[in-house]
Amino acid sequence: MTNFLNISDLDKINILKILNSKEDTKTLNNKSIGLLFEKHSTRTRLSFNVGISKLGGNSIDIRFKELNISRYESFEDTFLAMNCYLDGLVFRTDNHQKLLEASKYFKKPIINALSDISHPCQSISDLLTIKEHFGKLDCNILWMGDMNNVCYSLVEATNLFQEINLIICSPLSISNKKKWPINSNVSIVDSLNDIDLTKINCVMTDVFISMNDEGSADKLSLLKPYCVTNDIMSKTAEDSIFMHCLPAKLGFEVEEDVFRSSKSIIWKQAYNRMIAQQKLLQFIYQ
Ligand code: CP
Ligand code: NVA
Repeated sequence: MTNFLNISDLDKINILKILNSKEDTKTLNNKSIGLLFEKHSTRTRLSFNVGISKLGGNSIDIRFKELNISRYESFEDTFLAMNCYLDGLVFRTDNHQKLLEASKYFKKPIINALSDISHPCQSISDLLTIKEHFGKLDCNILWMGDMNNVCYSLVEATNLFQEINLIICSPLSISNKKKWPINSNVSIVDSLNDIDLTKINCVMTDVFISMNDEGSADKLSLLKPYCVTNDIMSKTAEDSIFMHCLPAKLGFEVEEDVFRSSKSIIWKQAYNRMIAQQKLLQFIYQ
């Protein structure tokens, strides 16, 4: 595999290979990986930084605004220059096209660290967290709220794993606009009335307004009824968990009581970002 831009760059066999691998300490010996973030990040940047050093590699934080691209150097020449020094690039961008464009000039692996379209590192890591928590991937996931980049990668992952059932609960005005390919184990509803909550053992959500969406304030009122509340959680299966990729906006997509409840495994999820990315890097550089 050269680039990891979407979950669909992998198949089920290789995802399982990644999830089941053991972390080592030398895969990235003598390798330098650039971390290029056009947008804010706490977990992704830190987990890659630390994870790369645990694999014996060297990570370099590249500040977009300090590059000559912010003066007059072209996009093409910027990535051709990076190609001279780096063995790989972790790239977070507001425009997925830039990942595709960068791959024309940067000839080592590029990992999507979140784009407007997808967040595949989050989904690989969430699969790992689910597998660790339940001892298997079989589960019934309810996604509440916006159908954003994180939701897209979750759908791509669910398409590959028939043992996962995913119900997306989102307003019709949002879901009608999404023409995502979905398999029979993914369904979309606009109301919880259509769902047997007792069968749900994983409730997931994400912010209602993503970094790419900051102009869409009307989404907040549209999505208000899709907040994950204690009432919803209390109707789900006894063993149910709450997951959120973070950062969270408490009181909007989730009540603070749920966020900090014993059902919430958000910090395990955050920790696993690092473990899953170490496994991913081992797979790419094996
Ligand atoms: N979940 C996630 O990608 O978090 P950051 O935006 O903090 O990296
Ligand atoms: N959907 C969110 C995810 C942040 C990790 C965003 O794009 O801002």
